[in-house]
Amino acid sequence: MKKFLALLLSSGLLVSMASGCKAAKGDQYFVGVAMPTKSSARWIDDGNNMKKQLEEKGYKVDLQYGEDVIENQVAQIENMITKGVDCLVIASIDGESLTDVLQKAKDANIPVIAYDRLIRNSDAVSYYATFDNYLVGKLQGSYIVEKLDLANQAGPFNIELFAGSPDDNNSKFFFNGAMDQLKPYIDSGKLVVKSGQTSFEQVATLRWDGATAQTRMDNIITSSYADGSRVDAILSPYDGISIGVLASVKNVGYGKSADLPLPIITGQDAELASVKSILAGEQTQTVFKDTRVLAAKAVEMVDAVLKGTEPTINDTKTYDNGVKVVPAYLCEPVSIDKENAIKVLVEESGYYTKDQING
Ligand code: GAL
Repeated sequence: MKKFLALLLSSGLLVSMASGCKAAKGDQYFVGVAMPTKSSARWIDDGNNMKKQLEEKGYKVDLQYGEDVIENQVAQIENMITKGVDCLVIASIDGESLTDVLQKAKDANIPVIAYDRLIRNSDAVSYYATFDNYLVGKLQGSYIVEKLDLANQAGPFNIELFAGSPDDNNSKFFFNGAMDQLKPYIDSGKLVVKSGQTSFEQVATLRWDGATAQTRMDNIITSSYADGSRVDAILSPYDGISIGVLASVKNVGYGKSADLPLPIITGQDAELASVKSILAGEQTQTVFKDTRVLAAKAVEMVDAVLKGTEPTINDTKTYDNGVKVVPAYLCEPVSIDKENAIKVLVEESGYYTKDQING
């Protein structure tokens, strides 16, 4: 009898493992959510949205933040595997350093969803929920082209370029999207990069760190703008970097007189500090990526891998992680400036309240 029971149990286990569905029927599914850092408001929103939406579906959630330290994130994921999660949702700190820990997840039959940032070099990733990252860069680059009216103005205008963290797969998508808009004008001489720093490697910002970007901008001003020339535009891929470069140019007097106006500064994430800065006429633009929509997409993917259904996918060719092309859903980003900030962020989407914006 005991043998028979053991046989039944093990065969039941096999069936559930084969369907990728670890939890016994009626049990609560347990989802591990690994986020990169709390130093940026958007990831706090992402984590909260994921937790809320998963709990609304009756899931149990373990939400962890790695504070931008790769080893922390690896340890947190290992811990989630040990605790027996049924599925992992990961916004990686370094997209290339999770190969070993995700092999452990795969060995334990735990499916993985890549959240916003692609996880590279692993076949354990089932799906990828993100935004159209190339389009984000395109919105930033074309904003500068339009604001400087490059089609009609003779120029030349001075521009400096910033890119995101080199270990984040998104960074090159953003940079390429922007540069496809800007490069024709750089080639024709209408846009001048006085620092001469135009390659991705030269302009990347490790860990998306605003202070690192501020220091680099300080150095560029000293080395390339000491002759009294001024920078007219700064391509920034992310609000934290925008705030850093803004501080740098303000420190040397930009924005204080009509002959030294603040440069056009782009951004991304529509973080509250940047939205306020935009409305105050300092940062010029950002790209809104509704973290509630992204979370809903990731939750749909979790549901699908756990219940054996198919999530809606709208991209099956862009995100090759080095081992496989990860089926993805790309949400749509929206360019925001002073003109449409309140309409899009408060009135239409309710992403922020009026009080948050005014507070
Ligand atoms: C990227 C993300 C951006 C921004 C950046 C810095 O991966 O796509 O929206 O948040 O990280 O956190």
